[in-house]
Amino acid sequence: MLTLSLDFQRVREVAVEALKIIEHYDISLQKAYFKALQELNLKPNRASYEYIYNILMNYYTIQYAFMKKKGRPARPRELVEFYESGEHLKVSLPSSILRRLSVETSYPYWLVQRLSKYLDLETLYQLLKALNRRKVWLLCLTKAGEVLRTLANEGVEANIDVDLDYMVEVVSSDKPPSRLGPVRKGLAIPVDKGSALVVEALRAQGHEVLDACAAPGVKSSLLILRGSPLVIAIDKSKSRIREAAKLISKFNTKEKIMLILADSRKPPISRSFIKALLDVPCSGTGTVGDDPSIKVRLSKPNKVKMYHKTQVRLLNSVSKIAEEVIYASCSLLPDEGEMVVDECDVEIEKLEIPSVTDCYQGFRCSGKAKRTMPHIHHCSAFFIALCRARIPSNT
Ligand SMILES: C[S@@+](CC[C@H](N)C(=O)[O-])C[C@H]1O[C@@H](n2cnc3c(N)ncnc32)[C@H](O)[C@@H]1O
Repeated sequence: MLTLSLDFQRVREVAVEALKIIEHYDISLQKAYFKALQELNLKPNRASYEYIYNILMNYYTIQYAFMKKKGRPARPRELVEFYESGEHLKVSLPSSILRRLSVETSYPYWLVQRLSKYLDLETLYQLLKALNRRKVWLLCLTKAGEVLRTLANEGVEANIDVDLDYMVEVVSSDKPPSRLGPVRKGLAIPVDKGSALVVEALRAQGHEVLDACAAPGVKSSLLILRGSPLVIAIDKSKSRIREAAKLISKFNTKEKIMLILADSRKPPISRSFIKALLDVPCSGTGTVGDDPSIKVRLSKPNKVKMYHKTQVRLLNSVSKIAEEVIYASCSLLPDEGEMVVDECDVEIEKLEIPSVTDCYQGFRCSGKAKRTMPHIHHCSAFFIALCRARIPSNT
């Protein structure tokens, strides 16, 4: 009994510390979790990770209930204790539909309000619920059948994807993706299907590719595995380039990827490309199931404006050195998708790939650019557009 309660105290302390770190440093759950463990001198453990994961997933519901009771927002320790008490489950929901949606699905009101301009309420509800779920996809480095058999041997239910025969969807499993048999044996790597679709959209078999925002190198590696002979992979973050160097070794794609530390707003490249991939830095609203710290980080909507500006600059500069650019962002916000490609000096071409729906209506790119939606495609939410630089007229 004593051990149990001591263990639980540790779990709680990790949650409080990780929450403080996320609120203060604006970093991912994984990074915050390991930083918290380091500060408390504790070892990683599934229970403590799941505990803070669930708190973050319910962040706005807990804050709403606390606010109703105390008339002010909860500080990290109060938030964790309030969650523990279960009181947030008893709170009566607001009567306004959008506010209710925001509390029930636990997203900031401004986000729900903004998305409701592009999606009907039922679709929005289904989308936000699906976004709250973890989705596990494996990219097979061997035959998908072998990956499926290995998973079946450990009692894990999975399916080979109907569109991409090298992707496997894990339907139910108690294990984290890194502990699954095929991953431990090097037969597969966890990669979201949305990332694979972004790479497919470029149709880059046989082409050397510029990957302008490349780290940690998932899509650069996929490009090689799907038949590109060389990828020039640029990223402006030193630490993420280091992560990429490790990851491309796992993919066994190191020989064909040239990593360059640089700023793609002014790429230090003296050649041009037929194909380029631009997977921009963004709010990450499409990947909440993997990293619910994004919910907390979304409390500052102004950051989206900053991302938008960078995304426009990146697309304008990359489209000057490549004939075709796939612009992708893992965001649900039109500010980081439709509005970016519409504002840039590019022509947008109709994209023909499976497992996508039309992007939001009312934009220049509508009917041409696409989106993946978690409630339909069971993967992260991506905006994907095929862009070509405008040919200057001679007049
Ligand atoms: C969405 S992530 C890319 C993920 C990557 N494509 C993959 O599949 O692994 C965006 C990346 O853009 C990088 N980035 C941000 N601003 C940049 C810039 N101006 N030039 C180059 N890279 C940039 C970030 O460091 C980050 O690694």
